[in-house]
Amino acid sequence: MDDKRPIRELIACQKPGWSLERRFYTDPEIYKLEIDQIVMRNWIFAGHESQVAESGDFKVLNVASESAIIVRGQDGKIRAFANTCRHRGSLVCLEPSGNTRKFECPYHAWVYDTEGKLIGARDMPADFNKEKFALNPVSIDVVHGLMFICFCDGPPSLDSAKRDLAEPLAMFDFENLKVAATKTYPISANWKLSVENYVECYHCAPAHSVYAKMHTLMLDANKQKRVQGHMLEKMPACGLKVISYDCADINAPPGQQGYTYSRTAMFEGYKSGSRDGEPIAPLLGNLSDYDGGGSDISIGPVSFFLAYSDHVVGYVFTPVDQTHCQCQTYWMVRSDAVEGKDYDCKELMWLWDTTLYADEEIIVNNWKGVQSRYYKPGPLSGMEKSEARFISWVLHELRRAPSITS
Ligand code: FES
Ligand SMILES: [Fe+2]
Repeated sequence: MDDKRPIRELIACQKPGWSLERRFYTDPEIYKLEIDQIVMRNWIFAGHESQVAESGDFKVLNVASESAIIVRGQDGKIRAFANTCRHRGSLVCLEPSGNTRKFECPYHAWVYDTEGKLIGARDMPADFNKEKFALNPVSIDVVHGLMFICFCDGPPSLDSAKRDLAEPLAMFDFENLKVAATKTYPISANWKLSVENYVECYHCAPAHSVYAKMHTLMLDANKQKRVQGHMLEKMPACGLKVISYDCADINAPPGQQGYTYSRTAMFEGYKSGSRDGEPIAPLLGNLSDYDGGGSDISIGPVSFFLAYSDHVVGYVFTPVDQTHCQCQTYWMVRSDAVEGKDYDCKELMWLWDTTLYADEEIIVNNWKGVQSRYYKPGPLSGMEKSEARFISWVLHELRRAPSITS
């Protein structure tokens, strides 16, 4: 029988520490609420500043029904615009990235400059005022080299994240990273399942044999504490401080975007997230040696980073529509590293390419299963605490929707 309960009641009945009711994945009304209350109201990682290093450099980011052009203007400033023509709404920029002095709409050829101003519109009436038809701005901010966009006018503040993450991100010199490779993994599943999957490592041992050989996140708390020892001893001599912030989702300070930082040891003998655990690129920042750890960082609800000593992987999970999402992945190395000499892209990508394909498969299986009439929420394990917290936060944000509160 179809569950016809009002959404408000569905939220109220959700048991803390259990997976979500099926309708949170399948109900179009709930998807619409999530887009308005969550996806468009939080910061989303849009790439490293170095990807738009020169005036005229641009890249496009698509999230659900939104598309943004991120561009460095002739004045050197980075801006973001809705990729929607002010004439009749066509996408303006069809290229994923490039360098340009102007954007010409492919429909009727209205032309915008890199500051978003309309500079050309053919055969319009004499009283047509081009100044009133600039591209609509999208919120953009840069956190120590990492660009974030938000599709709303009053986004949460990134000040706490910038302040608290300044020291840990400086250790790896995030500001001077460059993107060595990117890849987008399409996932045929509701977007929340991809975030839920990323934030828990209960699945790591059964689903990721290669990852689980090197990483220790799937160990229970006692065992993990023991393996942290060898890394903690090495950290000071390698140029790394022990820093930890746990301010994600419902733990975020009021009005601030959530964020986390922590470093976890790999098994003894592994120096980096590479095929054989050996170094795979030059050490980041001013690090002097490998401590055998990886730092997990999150900024906002869908953007995650894993900083090994010699490279950083960034993951962004965004909805495409209700039943499809994607993981946009960035592999970053220090900006002066030379491809072919200091690193090899195929080797750099190997571990997480393997791991993300496996993730895609388990997320899609999860999606197929939750659509069954036999699916019922199940209890989460102790290793799925971050998932439980993400679920609570999603419910908390949905509860704030005007249609739920009224
Ligand atoms: S829709 Fe862009 S010029 Fe007409
Ligand atoms: Fe995974």
